[in-house]
Amino acid sequence: MKTFIMDNGIKVFQYGNPVETDAVKGKKIRKDVAEVVKPFFNEENCTIDLNLKKEDVVYGFGGNLGGINKRGRIYESYCTDEPSHTEEKKALYGAHNFFIISGETNCGYFIDYPSRITYDVGFSNLDSLNISISGHDFTLYIIEGEKIETIISNFLKIIGKAYVPPKWGFGYFQSRWGYKNKKEVLEVRNTFVENKIPLEGIYLDLDYMEDFKDFSISNERFDCFKEFVNQLKKEGTYLIPIIDAGVKVEKGYDVYEEGISGDHFCKNKEGNPYTAAVWPGQVHFPDFFKEDTQKWFGEKYKLLTDSGIEGVWNDMNEPAIFYDEQSLDEAIDLATESKGKNLNVFSFFDLKDKFCNLANREEYYRSFYHQVGDELKSNHEVHNLYGHYMTKSASLGLSSLLNDKRFVLISRASSIGTHRYGGIWTGDNCSFWSHLEQNIKNMPSLNMCGFFYTGADTGGFGNDCYGEMLVRWMQFSVFTPLLRNHSAIGCVNQEPYAFGDKIMETSKKLIEARYSLLPFIYSEYMKSVNQYKVMFKPLSFEFSDQLSKQAEDQLFLGNEIMIAPVCKANHEGRFVYLPEKMAEVSFGKDCESLQIKNSGIHYLDYGLEDFKFFLRKNSIVPLVTPSMNVKQLSQEKLKVLAYVESKAEYNLYDDDGVSYQYLQGKSFSTNIKITRNKGDFKVEVSNTNPSIKEIDLTIIDESNNVKLKKIKL
Ligand code: GLC
Repeated sequence: MKTFIMDNGIKVFQYGNPVETDAVKGKKIRKDVAEVVKPFFNEENCTIDLNLKKEDVVYGFGGNLGGINKRGRIYESYCTDEPSHTEEKKALYGAHNFFIISGETNCGYFIDYPSRITYDVGFSNLDSLNISISGHDFTLYIIEGEKIETIISNFLKIIGKAYVPPKWGFGYFQSRWGYKNKKEVLEVRNTFVENKIPLEGIYLDLDYMEDFKDFSISNERFDCFKEFVNQLKKEGTYLIPIIDAGVKVEKGYDVYEEGISGDHFCKNKEGNPYTAAVWPGQVHFPDFFKEDTQKWFGEKYKLLTDSGIEGVWNDMNEPAIFYDEQSLDEAIDLATESKGKNLNVFSFFDLKDKFCNLANREEYYRSFYHQVGDELKSNHEVHNLYGHYMTKSASLGLSSLLNDKRFVLISRASSIGTHRYGGIWTGDNCSFWSHLEQNIKNMPSLNMCGFFYTGADTGGFGNDCYGEMLVRWMQFSVFTPLLRNHSAIGCVNQEPYAFGDKIMETSKKLIEARYSLLPFIYSEYMKSVNQYKVMFKPLSFEFSDQLSKQAEDQLFLGNEIMIAPVCKANHEGRFVYLPEKMAEVSFGKDCESLQIKNSGIHYLDYGLEDFKFFLRKNSIVPLVTPSMNVKQLSQEKLKVLAYVESKAEYNLYDDDGVSYQYLQGKSFSTNIKITRNKGDFKVEVSNTNPSIKEIDLTIIDESNNVKLKKIKL
């Protein structure tokens, strides 16, 4: 074992000879450090047992299932295309091996290891967190700290600064697998425009491709693609096409041919390109571990950027495998043998399972290889890095193709470190109320692992959504940086206008509320990135009482607001817990109203037509007039809501929203300071943002007295 020390006293324990993973960017210095936990090495794996005290809360594991408090469940880090996010599932698309045990003391753990790790968090044994690492070579980072947020910040610092999309990436996006052709895409856009519903862009799913081939555009369904993309962009709507990991095996198809001649595909045991089946049938997988393959694939995005595309989504990059030829043959053979036989329960279940369990088998991942440095490694050994390197490849490609322009990039699979290259969405959820709750629970865990540009498929991907659910979902997701309504082919349409006029009007108001909040959301996003802190935090990060610890459906956004969405059917409100006095903010037709609420449990009236959140004590939230898209968003008149008992301060961050100059510190700030001054409030503003000309303040005190003030800049 080798030991190191990093900035902020992070202790590093390196066991065996771990694979370089691209997770940690910070500098390690060799130093003798006493072991904090004792791994136990078995023949094939290694286990670590951590003690859990009754009052301890476990946070983390990024995009995995489970609560904000992770206790009482088993989790696996093994990037998996899991289409059904049900309670017994252990692994989803990301491998996010960072967690914190928080109680009397707080300690963060990051296990840098690219294959399967299983975490039994007080499931088999209430008092222990048992970790099983499927090998002997890994690096363990121990991050001690007095406060949870210091631990997170120290962790975020060593994994590096997060990806920042352009500001238009914070708008509202419509998506659906099954917008068959240009005409349908245009219809969607026109319906938004006709109904004056703000819209930033439309995601293009597989439907735009020719025979599911990456970097191909169907001439029949999407002819004159470039003109189409640019025309829509000119009119204010971006298009964001999908790219999948698997490249169709087809003689004469340029990407396939180049992949073969350039030796870019993963190999099987015999050294030939590995073949498996995904959307187009047989595919080869680019070996994204190789730098020249990353470069080659990254440059392929040129076909899209040349057409005016400035955003893409990378999918099926766990990588998802529907079947391989041998397994499918075995299943077919068994079916043939079974024909005409009297199958009893066991033989029938065997037959059924042969087909039902064809997808994503570990044996597939054991049977193809990557070039990792000088070594060949099976995909299984480095499985969790496949999507990571695909995202890196896309990010490098798009950066060089779009020069100094930021781009939207989201991936489905990810590992720790992927947040530097792009955002992620939470995959194929369903139109279930529990999945709306999952969306809430995931936000702080994802942030802890560096993923800020993230969100779930609003309305749910699988199963049929309905009006009430869509509205309730939006009442939450209008706060998430990635705001995309996406649904699966075969399910009912779930655009905001798909459920009648009433739901459309409500949805429209919610999307408008998103645009009103957009400067604040962007400002909080950039602060998270620049100051290495979470954007969404559970109440228990700040309050240690039992109710705060149990609050799994309420979140703080930044230091200013608390979100408490309704996540149940047929409800006209919900119980909400206020750990301190707050102002309930309700969006009305033309103005917002504020109402002070004491700390404690309240029944919050929250109807379908409402939009509400809480403004914290001594806090300020800025709003603007909504617009149809980010380009049209004017900050000239800033509306400011404040709840001030003694003094409040907010610094509204802004930048050009398109370039990378923010990395050189080129940004604007509007600092608003409000101090209680006898019966009145003193307002001080220092502003470097030329687009802000006037500030309209609504200030409330603890006794519901409201003062209005106007400041011209
Ligand atoms: C995967 C994606 C989903 C997409 C579908 C078709 O299931 O997760 O978002 O719509 O593939 O491309």
